[in-house]
This record gives sequence, structure tokens and C-alpha cells, in this order.
Amino acid sequence: MFTKYTLANFELENRSVRSATATGTCDIATGIPEQKFYDLYESLAKGHPGLIIQEHAFVSFRGHAGHKQLGIHSDDMIQYHKKANDLMRAANSKVKICCQLAHAGPNGGAADKIDVNTATPADFEEAVQQFKEAALRAKKAGYDCVQIHSAHTYLLSQSISNYYNKRTDEYKSSDFKLLRDVLAAVRTVDIPVGVKLQCDDFFEGFEMNAKSACVILNALKFDFVEISGGDVAGKAGYGTIRQGKDKYYYKHVVAEMKAQNLLNKQPVIVTGGFENAEDANMALNDGVPLVGFSRKFLRNDKFLIGEDTKKCGRCNQCIIGLVQGKCAMCPVAGRECK
Ligand SMILES: Cc1cc2nc3c(=O)[nH]c(=O)nc-3n(C[C@H](O)[C@H](O)[C@H](O)COP(=O)(O)O)c2cc1C
Repeated sequence: MFTKYTLANFELENRSVRSATATGTCDIATGIPEQKFYDLYESLAKGHPGLIIQEHAFVSFRGHAGHKQLGIHSDDMIQYHKKANDLMRAANSKVKICCQLAHAGPNGGAADKIDVNTATPADFEEAVQQFKEAALRAKKAGYDCVQIHSAHTYLLSQSISNYYNKRTDEYKSSDFKLLRDVLAAVRTVDIPVGVKLQCDDFFEGFEMNAKSACVILNALKFDFVEISGGDVAGKAGYGTIRQGKDKYYYKHVVAEMKAQNLLNKQPVIVTGGFENAEDANMALNDGVPLVGFSRKFLRNDKFLIGEDTKKCGRCNQCIIGLVQGKCAMCPVAGRECK
């Protein structure tokens, strides 16, 4: 866990990744960070995760997920992202930082939100352009890399899943054209590009699973791939932000990627159900290069460098608080902010 790793064109201090975690600390109308956003990220950087994937940043108001979400939808936002990056690097000169680019699609709150089944090609082309412009802003703000959000039933996630996407045209799920086009557009910006990929719908009888994720990864070349799933809190419950004691819950996806020799070609981050370095070793021993943690960092953002006494019970009070419009800290740990 505590060995270095070269990802794309930069070196990580260790194998830990802070998986993207919405903190609910931005203005809901503008997407501009509040002071607690800066405080949280400065503190997090001091805990020495190798890579901080910040939190889903909406690429346009049409793709706004709601909550108190971070925006990267206009050039005005560059200054706020740069300020946060500068603070994190001043707190920890070794930390690497990734901007997660997101379009909520049908899961958003906008009046003109995009539905994956009724969208026109022009709607999709507009979204592609917005991802590209957002990536350019991320580069100008000084991020080390960007991550395309293609999980959790957002626009790209639904587009690759035949549970949601019933189209029969060129945007049908099996062709993953929208994800392909977004990757190509973001690739025109000179910055490493990763993806958070839905690798399991959690519904029986559908095709978005470990095997179909590998089909995508054999066709599209990212600089890194984070394994994730579909529903956050829909029909499949908290499938991807799973409650309870289940550890390493994408082990089956790792097994398939390993069988197809895909774990290191586009370095894989596996996230979901890891509590500490000992847990992470289960995945590292399977050959996965990087391990992601989300809720654990909300519980204790210094667990990598200090005494690790605060266990995350995966009660999901953090995400429940976020949905209720609060800051997504851990109330159990007394880290709640209003
Ligand atoms: C409060 C909260 C906010 C989250 N926000 C995001 C997000 O902005 N983008 C994202 O890709 N995943 C998000 N996730 C999902 C996590 O990144 C992660 O995939 C999931 O929680 C499983 O990891 P864990 O068991 O370490 O918590 C969020 C999770 C929580 C609990």
C-alpha cells in the first residue's frame, strides 16, 4: 500500500486513492465552493492519499445533479478550482489531484435534463462538447488528470447499460458511442484521462456486468479505470455505496479483468468496501495497482498516517445527509458540518 506508483505521467506517493466524494460544500445555485470546501480538501491532503479524485463536478447546468454540487461549467470556475489545488499542494507537495467530470443526465434536477432514450443526437453532441470544455478548464486549473464519470446511473452510465438504454440507433448501449465520443473529445485536451466505469448494474438479466465492462476497456483506452457500479440509491438500493460489512465488493469484476489481462494496461482502481491498508492488501495481492476509499476518509481523513481507531460502519449517514442538502461529513465521527 505504501509503495510508489507511476500513473500516466506522474508519480503517486502510495497506492491509495481518495475516490470521488461529493462533500455538499458548494453553493447550490452557482456551484461555487464555500469556505468549508477548501478546509475539507486542505485537511484531506494532509492525510497523504496518493491521489485525490475530488468530487463530481457538473459540466453544464443541464447535467447538474442537485445537492450542493461543485461546478466546472464555465470559465469563471477555474479560479476556485485553482485555489483548492494550490491549497492541497501547499499542504502536501506530493499529492496528485484529479477532477471528476460529470453529467447527471436523467438523474439531474434541471428542467431541460437529458433523458438517455429521448435525447436527440444534438443533445448528445452538446454534452460531448461540454465534457471537452470542462476538461480544458481542469487543465487550466492545474489538475494532474481528469476522470470521466460513467457510473451511478448518470448520463454516460445509463448510455452504456441496456437496463436503461433502449435505443436502437447508433447510440445503443452495445456501441457505447457517447462514452467513445466523450473520451475522444477529452483526449484533444493535453491531460491524462481516466474513467469511473459502471461494471455492474446489480440487476439480474442485464448486460452491464464485468464482461461487458471488459468489452469497453478492450475498445477504449483510458489512462486509468476505476471500478464502480450502477445504482446509488435506486431500485438496487445502495448498490455501489453498499451498507454493511461486505468488503471488496467488486472482487468479481477484478477477477474478470485479471482473466482478460486488463488490470495494469489501463491501471485499475478498485473502490468499494475498503476500511484500511490491510483490507486494501486483498486487492493489491490480486494484482490491482490502486485501491480507492470514499467513506473512510469522511470518517477519518488521517487514517493513512495516524492511529486508525475510527471504523466506518457504512451506515450511510454521510450520503443521506448529502441528499438532505447537508455537508456530507460523518455525523458518527462528530465531523458533521451544517
Ligand atoms: C457521501 C458520498 C458522496 C459520493 N460522491 C461521489 C461522487 O461525487 N462521485 C463518484 O463517482 N462517487 C461518489 N461516491 C461513491 C464513492 O466514490 C465510492 O464509489 C463508494 O462510496 C464506495 O466506496 P467506499 O466503500 O469506500 O465508500 C460518493 C459516496 C459517498 C458516501
